[in-house]
Amino acid sequence: MLINCKRLVRSHVSPASAAMLLPVLSCFAMPCQAGAAAGDSANGMKLYEAKCGGCHSLDMNRVGPAHRGVVGRPIASAPGYTYSNAIKKLGGTWTPRRLDQWLQGPQNMAPGTKMFFSVPSASDRADIITYLAANSDPSK
Ligand code: HEC
Repeated sequence: MLINCKRLVRSHVSPASAAMLLPVLSCFAMPCQAGAAAGDSANGMKLYEAKCGGCHSLDMNRVGPAHRGVVGRPIASAPGYTYSNAIKKLGGTWTPRRLDQWLQGPQNMAPGTKMFFSVPSASDRADIITYLAANSDPSK
């Protein structure tokens, strides 16, 4: 597809502007999600609803805290949610790496936390974290 695009561009415009257009065209030929994690957000949404939805939602504190914006958010900081001391002691911010560690075993990462649930499959974790990141503003 990219080759066809190049031919098309060459036959219609000067080489200089073709060079300027190529990066744009390559975005159509290849996935172009700058900085995105490797997971599949649509599958992550399904997994989130099935596995996490009993205790969490994006916008409401339920058994567990609300998740919108969790990637890049300070740990244990959802307004109005009462966290255990175990998770409050962790400190720092939720990054995709720390979320991956959390989902492998919250009780290992923060012994005594109120969350008793883990996700053994690495690809399920990646999809869920990609979904959470898609519902987070990385600039915050
Ligand atoms: C059985 C209920 C339950 C399930 C299921 C559950 N959680 Fe939790 N989760 C909690 C509780 C309770 C807390 C608060 C932990 C504390 O205060 O120690 C929590 C906390 C968290 C936090 C910390 C958020 C923050 O604001 O710091 C993240 C992230 C999280 N859960 C992700 C998930 C994900 C993703 C899933 C699904 C794969 C999931 N949880 C499934 C109960 C659950």
